[in-house]
Amino acid sequence: MKTAVIGAGVMGSGIAQVLAQSGHEVHCTDVAEDALERARTSVTRGRYGFDRGVERGKLTRAAADAALARLHFTLDLEAAVSATDLVIECIPERLDLKIRVFRQLDRLAPPDAILASNSSGFPLAGLAAATDRPSRVLVWHWASPPVVMKFAEIVVREETDPDAIRFVRKTALGCGKNPIVVKDHPMAWGYVANRIYFAMLNEASRVVSDGVASEEEVNQLMTDCYGWPVGPFAMVKGARKGFGD
Ligand SMILES: NC(=O)c1ccc[n+]([C@@H]2O[C@H](COP(=O)([O-])OP(=O)(O)OC[C@H]3O[C@@H](n4cnc5c(N)ncnc54)[C@H](O)[C@@H]3O)[C@@H](O)[C@H]2O)c1
Repeated sequence: MKTAVIGAGVMGSGIAQVLAQSGHEVHCTDVAEDALERARTSVTRGRYGFDRGVERGKLTRAAADAALARLHFTLDLEAAVSATDLVIECIPERLDLKIRVFRQLDRLAPPDAILASNSSGFPLAGLAAATDRPSRVLVWHWASPPVVMKFAEIVVREETDPDAIRFVRKTALGCGKNPIVVKDHPMAWGYVANRIYFAMLNEASRVVSDGVASEEEVNQLMTDCYGWPVGPFAMVKGARKGFGD
């Protein structure tokens, strides 16, 4: 399968790496040449890159080299998306930018290609409406770092083509992820994971600003009471370092 990843930042580079490692041809594109350079370095020599993967025994040198050979970095969007089966958009979380890119992708990618967004929460309805193929547009939300996290939140609408859903679910499974298909809510940001995460974080922050308990006390109480691996404020630090979103 030929795939394209649009935006070679933190998420795009990791997603491109996972797809290549899972046997897919990947064309990763960006508007900034230095972003492509950073992505290439991260995928080869970064903390979760191929070299470290080989050192840790996660994959063989031959498998890493084969994956790297399937991974192409380019500034040329049109070439990147030509003849693709699946495009994953990973540009910054700004609706105006995403809508502009979805319009471009709709024009440049093959008519039956699936266009997926890794948005953290923008309703699918708005992204799908920017194209003339709304049934082939969906959200495939990954967590950071993509190489490590099994999270795959796939957001769909009534109108989404069941074949597109099956295809993306199967691709996620093939990438070693644990796909869960959920419904779009046209008025709510955050799908499932981020709606619940931010609701929890808002209340935890209110508890602290009301002077009821300190961040450390909240963390301790929540881990002791609910068996969470870390408390809400430790989770935020983890997200900034590259876990979750
Ligand atoms: N960082 C996380 O933990 C995380 C987790 C899940 C989802 N997300 C979502 O993933 C998306 C990307 O986040 P990120 O952290 O990788 O951002 P990032 O800033 O690291 O990377 C975005 C990249 O997109 C490029 N870009 C901007 N406009 C472009 C265009 N028109 N065409 C091609 N490339 C373009 C930028 O040059 C940059 O390299 C966002 O929607 C974000 O909300 C982020």
